Amino acid sequence: MTSLGPDAGVDIESLSEDQARAELARLEGVLVAADVAYHQKDAPEMSDADYDALKRRYLSIEAAFPELRRPDSLSGKVGAPAAEGFAKVRHQVPMLSLLNAFTDDDVARFFDTATGIAEGGATMQFTAEPKIDGLSASLTYRAGVLVKGATRGDGLVGEDITRNLMTIADIPHRLAGAGWPDEIEIRGEVYMSHAEFQALKARSAAVGGQDYVNPRNTAAGSLRQKDPSVTASRKLNFFAYAWGAASSLPAPTQMGVMDRFRAWGFAVNPLTVLCQSRDALLAHYRMIEAQRATLGYDIDGVVYKVDRVEWRDRIGWRANAPLWAIAHKFPPEQATSVLDAIDIQVGRTGALTPVARLRPVTVGGVVVENATLHNEDYIKGIGSDGEPLRGGMDLRVGDTVVVQRAGDVIPQIIGVVADKRPADAVPYVFPDRCPICGSAAVRDVNEKTGKVDAVRRCTGEMSCAAQAVEQLKHFVARDAMDIDGFGSENVELFFAEGLVQHPADIFRLPQRADAVRDALVKRSRQQALDRKGGAEAAEPDPQPGKAKGDQRQRQLEKLFAAIEARRAPELDKFIFALGIRHVGATTAALFAKTFSTIEAFRDTALQAAAGGDIHTDFPSISGVGEAVLASVRDFFANPRNVAALDALLAEVRPAPYVVSAESPVAGQTVVFTGSLEKMTRGAAKAMAERLGAKVAGSVSKNTNLVVAGPGAGSKLKDAEALGIPVIDEDQWLALVGG
Ligand code: IVH
Repeated sequence: MTSLGPDAGVDIESLSEDQARAELARLEGVLVAADVAYHQKDAPEMSDADYDALKRRYLSIEAAFPELRRPDSLSGKVGAPAAEGFAKVRHQVPMLSLLNAFTDDDVARFFDTATGIAEGGATMQFTAEPKIDGLSASLTYRAGVLVKGATRGDGLVGEDITRNLMTIADIPHRLAGAGWPDEIEIRGEVYMSHAEFQALKARSAAVGGQDYVNPRNTAAGSLRQKDPSVTASRKLNFFAYAWGAASSLPAPTQMGVMDRFRAWGFAVNPLTVLCQSRDALLAHYRMIEAQRATLGYDIDGVVYKVDRVEWRDRIGWRANAPLWAIAHKFPPEQATSVLDAIDIQVGRTGALTPVARLRPVTVGGVVVENATLHNEDYIKGIGSDGEPLRGGMDLRVGDTVVVQRAGDVIPQIIGVVADKRPADAVPYVFPDRCPICGSAAVRDVNEKTGKVDAVRRCTGEMSCAAQAVEQLKHFVARDAMDIDGFGSENVELFFAEGLVQHPADIFRLPQRADAVRDALVKRSRQQALDRKGGAEAAEPDPQPGKAKGDQRQRQLEKLFAAIEARRAPELDKFIFALGIRHVGATTAALFAKTFSTIEAFRDTALQAAAGGDIHTDFPSISGVGEAVLASVRDFFANPRNVAALDALLAEVRPAPYVVSAESPVAGQTVVFTGSLEKMTRGAAKAMAERLGAKVAGSVSKNTNLVVAGPGAGSKLKDAEALGIPVIDEDQWLALVGG
């Protein structure tokens, strides 16, 4: 038996990168030798348990040092031994795994190796198609009739699951058409769609049944049912993408064979294309990656294959994977980390939001240190409809957690590793006082539904520094008052220095130039200290005093000019800037349009707040509901808010709202699609409407212009099909002068 080596037990966390690299190489040698002994010589050299322990260690080191993972990592070669209970099937041609590529360079190496064998400068073509995250299956047809269906197992021996596979609608019992060989083994992936997965989860929840983790595991469980009627009750799908033993091949290329498979009644993935260059492969990879979230089933990469079959033999194989194909994997989007602390942040509306502080971990190519925990029920393991989250497990400081990052969404904690919970971990106690101002923090009861709000809020309002600062940040933001260059940092500085407490104070800053200058000097001194460390910062300043003074003067003038430039803000932006709960950019624009002036809006709201009826006081505005009106009334019922507004109105004069008839988009119908980076969707809509455009939700022949941001999907396609002009966000801003 192979020795595990003296350092087999060294703690992975204490390995240096060099040690980890050496350890990976050593483990790989031992594991490959064991594979050969087991599979090819039929003479195992080590026990299964030892083998598994070494493999686990190999995978853990790779997970801890992802940068050391090589495209030919053993982690691409994990195969499960055939389970007991089903008859064993020895594959006539082994079911191989694929080598992995993680970077563009890995793809370049694969491409160069493969094309290097093309003779006489012939162009080599490759297919590129999604790598389906399901389970591979092999289907043997004799004289066009399905006679055997098997799992991959360990690649050499799988399980006979013919009866279960026969319940899948995508798998024909008899091949359609004609021209099939006497015998052919068709290979592909069994998977469960997101829609079916959600439906199954819902059906199970309705009868208090088990929870399902992900579509892949669920598909695997469904396939391995002893009773085929259980498999049949869960809709599974199948994509054909390869073949095993065949008495003859129906075409000399991958694409040609796939066309035949289609004709015989199989589903072949529609995103399969032919590429002639490395750049074309990478372009297809990015195209598929961009569509990943909307495909309706899980994929974890893109598979490239040499198209011409005769070239494959020349390129060859290595261990248990071909060298003529590769799986270009997407960056992993889940990882485990440790929950070090739970911090509470207080937002503009007083909401106490718990934030997870995590041991830094790379998820989907990005280092994640924080994740939102939403609210206290979420920490307890209770979802928004009272359903259990993470199997009902609460989150405790010290827990090992599974972190997920999907696309651009903020990272989420989707699971807790139960057996790694420290013995002394205690349930988290959510504070009932605001951590910033000490006021009581309460969960309101929704007047309408009688339900307790999920969010706990600080009752300190503007006496709470956190709420005041957040409200000021909102006030100056781009979609609100849009005071150029007056960012969050300045808000924090001037608030801390006592220069700005209320929005009106911002407009009084130019009268306090000396104090503002002092605050800016103080900050840059502090920044220098932070940068250099205390001792060095005390050294004489290399920049002469006058140059520095001039620079400061320019900074001050710029800031004051930006403030002066916003003394006549657009009415909708001004209303939005007030920060009334539930009044977003779109609603603010509706109010602006309805009331035209701030005085009309203020007077009506004050009347409603003084005991009038919001329904009769406020004209009915389509798109403005009860919750919005109630919060406008509550805002104006608070004398501090009215005083702050009036103080502000002594400084600024919001321009009456008039719909422009002269703008380049007046009278046009515009559609926004994809994500916008410089403004919210609501603000973009409000801006377009102010300029006299109509904003529609879908593209039709009546659409004049489409503004498309990253991630735009079907609307963009519709626009292209209809020949409607498409511009991006920057072009839009240039067009409307924003
Ligand atoms: S081709 C010799 N194409 O990925 C190559 N495999 O990591 C045969 N997979 O075991 C496989 N989508 O289960 C191929 N479009 C695709 C695939 C695919 C998913 C799976 C398959 C294979 C594993 C290798």
